[in-house]
Amino acid sequence: MNATSRPTPQVLVLGAVADSQLERLRRSCAVDQVAHADVLRPVGRRLLERADGLLVTGQYPVDVRLLEAAPRVRVVSLRAVGHDSVDLLECARRGVQVCNTPGVLDAAVAELTVLLILALARRLPEHLISTADAVRPQVTLGRDMVGRTLGIVGMGRIGKRVAQIAAQGLGMHVLHTTRREPAEEGSGWVSMDELLARADVISLHLPLTDATRHFVGARELKLMKQGAILVNASRAGLVDTEALADSLNQAHLYGAALDVTAQEWIPVDHPLRRAPNVVLTPHLGSATEETRTAMAEMAVSNLLLALRGDPPLSVVSA
Ligand code: GLV
Repeated sequence: MNATSRPTPQVLVLGAVADSQLERLRRSCAVDQVAHADVLRPVGRRLLERADGLLVTGQYPVDVRLLEAAPRVRVVSLRAVGHDSVDLLECARRGVQVCNTPGVLDAAVAELTVLLILALARRLPEHLISTADAVRPQVTLGRDMVGRTLGIVGMGRIGKRVAQIAAQGLGMHVLHTTRREPAEEGSGWVSMDELLARADVISLHLPLTDATRHFVGARELKLMKQGAILVNASRAGLVDTEALADSLNQAHLYGAALDVTAQEWIPVDHPLRRAPNVVLTPHLGSATEETRTAMAEMAVSNLLLALRGDPPLSVVSA
């Protein structure tokens, strides 16, 4: 190595990423890869120990344990917009830069949200026909969405896109609780309690923080309109799922759709599994080919930029 050349940075990919992105990394870095299940096992620890940068896919926790095992790491690049899985204070304390991928997944998550609303309203799961079914299912009448009110909690990029599709595509009225947002055509600001009382469908689009954990609990569920629908394609911790199961079992709500569940899948004995009109999907929000490709590209760009000392496309601070 001469005075001007830098050592090749060592990158560790946690989880899976497309070969094209591994190739991009390999052009300027040495690359290791480890499955989530092995990260804190001896095989993963050996790789963590030598890593300068981490590319993290999925919701793997970047906590003190991980950071302690990775003393050289200067940058953690998430293939995700949400960063509740990262201990940001600990990263800041260690001088570790954290990057994420906002913007590129808005349309995919909004489309899934609308799909979940319609699946619940038309009771799609109970009518889905499998090739193994010999008997035609009974038809249960669903609900029109046109003319109904959608309450968006969290009018950020994704919330706005959902509002746009619902208002312009489905003919819904939109209320939201984000005061700083100017009233857009067909939508208006209301307090949370008013939104709970007026909305036929409530969709959550908040980040998970200490302030938003169990944002929808027993009180909020009680304040929701009889027969309303709750959709959460954001973060599991926003909803108290035990209270939600009670509300559904008491037939207060019409139904609930959750794309996100604690520990990324709901335990087999959880009361929500026995509650009526529940749709559970395994965190599909950004799971389209185009969107996951765009997220991986942005996450790799962030990592490469940060490792060579340039500003990444998106940085998260504590
Ligand atoms: C998905 O949930 C993300 O945070 O990117």
